[in-house]
Amino acid sequence: MNPMLNIAIRAARKAGNVIAKGYERPDSLETTTKRANDYVTNIDKEAEQAIIEVIKKSYPEHTIITEETGVIEGENKNVQWIIDPLDGTTNFIKSFPHFSVSIAIRENGRTEVGVVYDPIRNELFTAVRGEGAKLNETRLRVENKRELDGTVLATGFPFKAKHHMPTQLNIMQSLLENVADFRRSGSAALDLAYVAANRVDGYFEIGLKPWDCAAGDLIVREAGGIVSDFVGGHNYLKSGNMVAAAPRIAKAILTKLQPHLSDELKK
Ligand code: IPD
Ligand code: CA
Ligand code: CA
Ligand code: CA
Repeated sequence: MNPMLNIAIRAARKAGNVIAKGYERPDSLETTTKRANDYVTNIDKEAEQAIIEVIKKSYPEHTIITEETGVIEGENKNVQWIIDPLDGTTNFIKSFPHFSVSIAIRENGRTEVGVVYDPIRNELFTAVRGEGAKLNETRLRVENKRELDGTVLATGFPFKAKHHMPTQLNIMQSLLENVADFRRSGSAALDLAYVAANRVDGYFEIGLKPWDCAAGDLIVREAGGIVSDFVGGHNYLKSGNMVAAAPRIAKAILTKLQPHLSDELKK
């Protein structure tokens, strides 16, 4: 097995154990508010420390970028680990059992490894560039759907950038002319993993951060799906605006988005 994948899995499982234990003891949860509607708990931080510890043991020279700590510069700036220790904090706080650990490894600006781990269901989604994507030991392949009609799409609301909310709602209204339904699960990393696993037919979201989506991005692409920004380009890790689906579904979603995009979202 790819040695970095091995370490990423070890780190994700360790963080998953911290999260699963924390989930059993909601009364001892310490929650603070970063901004309106944006929370962090002691478990996010503990899970993040567990991941950092595992990485540093094997790769002390690598650079680590995390949601809660920020950038931990390593001697080697070409290899970056991009970490979301707990994707779905709001679900976690509500005891809604749907959240994940997301770990991506980027080398010279290209994502090489992606791991998304759901500690509640013990589901491990992995991908290595050029080697495909898996859910536990099973290979993932995005179904080649052609029509938007009848599909179920995942999305997230831009609750941290509320000025985009009217656009979000307009896009959803327009998509509802065709799609059967939406899912708003509360974990972007799992939304992407679920595209790869055909549990939803596509996904879009405004205003993601790299740690939300870098691992899931590779998992979708290695399962044969398309990932793009809102104008069909590859700027999504920078812009945070992302569409992911089977090729024709992604194209259909992009066509539906276009009339509603502000200039800020055309990237
Ligand atoms: C959030 C989740 C959510 C998405 C938000 C993210 P967090 O991550 O992925 O589904 O809609 O954009 O910020 O804060 O729970 O790690
Ligand atoms: Ca957060
Ligand atoms: Ca996140
Ligand atoms: Ca998080």
